[in-house]
Amino acid sequence: MPESDDIKERARKVIARCRKLATFTEQTGCTTRTFLSPMMRDCHREISGWLAPLGAEINIDAVGNFRALYHASDPAPPRLVIGSHLDTVPDAGAFDGILGVVLGAALLEALNGDRLPFAIELVGFSEEEGVRFATPFIGSRALLGKIDDDLLNREDECGISVRAAIEQFGLDPSRIPDAALQGVPLGYLEFHIEQGPVLENLGLPLGVVEAIVGQSRLDFTFTGRANHAGTTPMHLRHDAIAGAAEWIVTVEREAQRVPGLVATVGSVHTKPGATNVIAGEAVVTLDVRHASDDTRNSAVAVLIREAGEIAARRNLTVRHRFQLSQPAVPMDPQLVSYVEESIRHVGCDPYRMVSGAGHDAMILAEKVPAAMIFLRTPGGISHTPDEEVSVEDVAKALEVGMHLLSVIADSCGIQKRK
Ligand code: HGY
Ligand code: MN
Ligand code: MN
Repeated sequence: MPESDDIKERARKVIARCRKLATFTEQTGCTTRTFLSPMMRDCHREISGWLAPLGAEINIDAVGNFRALYHASDPAPPRLVIGSHLDTVPDAGAFDGILGVVLGAALLEALNGDRLPFAIELVGFSEEEGVRFATPFIGSRALLGKIDDDLLNREDECGISVRAAIEQFGLDPSRIPDAALQGVPLGYLEFHIEQGPVLENLGLPLGVVEAIVGQSRLDFTFTGRANHAGTTPMHLRHDAIAGAAEWIVTVEREAQRVPGLVATVGSVHTKPGATNVIAGEAVVTLDVRHASDDTRNSAVAVLIREAGEIAARRNLTVRHRFQLSQPAVPMDPQLVSYVEESIRHVGCDPYRMVSGAGHDAMILAEKVPAAMIFLRTPGGISHTPDEEVSVEDVAKALEVGMHLLSVIADSCGIQKRK
């Protein structure tokens, strides 16, 4: 088959594989796969089946990351890490995170047994979204040796701690230190969707990530007094939902006021949750992001103050808790320029952009030169089952990846050997 047909065939296989992994779900009828759910084991088995013929060395580390090492031509070589996350949000699409792992596997297959002068470690992170334990990046934090007791003691909604979840999955928390990267890899590459409508509006298939915005995640608990919906006059109420609702509108107004700021209330849990009872409690989550950490932190401070003022006016109390305060992270300029050159090499216009979504690259970047390649998503959709990627764009991403591997090999001052 001429090269372009071969690459198109590989791209079709990438998409089919992403859709196959999407069937490994803890919720019937939709794709939901959270940290160390049993279905993660199905993913590990499926991906191992693709990589075994390549002779990759596969293991599952102590926080459930899938780790596959494709050896180099040289002994004790430098190492390039290619990765992304295998966990999903609830009722997810088939491509957020997973595409980066499947594309990485396809690049190893496309080497056709060639050995590079550097080893490639393909990583499928066990937890990036932060769904089960309300804290993201558990998988990539383990590679940087940043798993502490505070994290291991966090509990999910069923009261299961991270430590217990690891043990229930059949892993050993005492081996977490072994998950840390040995030495400093050459670099970290992550292919991803999750860039909204930007590339589609520009009519471009691929983007080059220059930086990843910082994000703050908090929850706010508004506490009032539950009472009878029929017998309590309006002026005597301490309605937690009404107070939270007034604050939620304030969140949206503040985000609309500040250029480049996004602020989202993604969930509201109320008690007791009955139609004929005034709510005594409303727990509200907040996600705030901006490319500038100062702007983001100022917005968070404003929203904390506004919550207090609204609660005071309504005879409620409110307390907040930080779940995450992740600074904005620039990608590695040298790797970014290699990505840009590789996108040009395959005949596309490279477009430098900031990522509004968080990614494991922002954790790895603290220790490893990191770069990301964005793929266009029709409709700019992600975090829903309607997520899509086209065969053509995946084919372009594969070509970019293959060229990038040879550029990185050349940049090591060593040639790829047969
Ligand atoms: O929320 C995010 O930015 C990503 O989906 N983890
Ligand atoms: Mn996501
Ligand atoms: Mn993602």
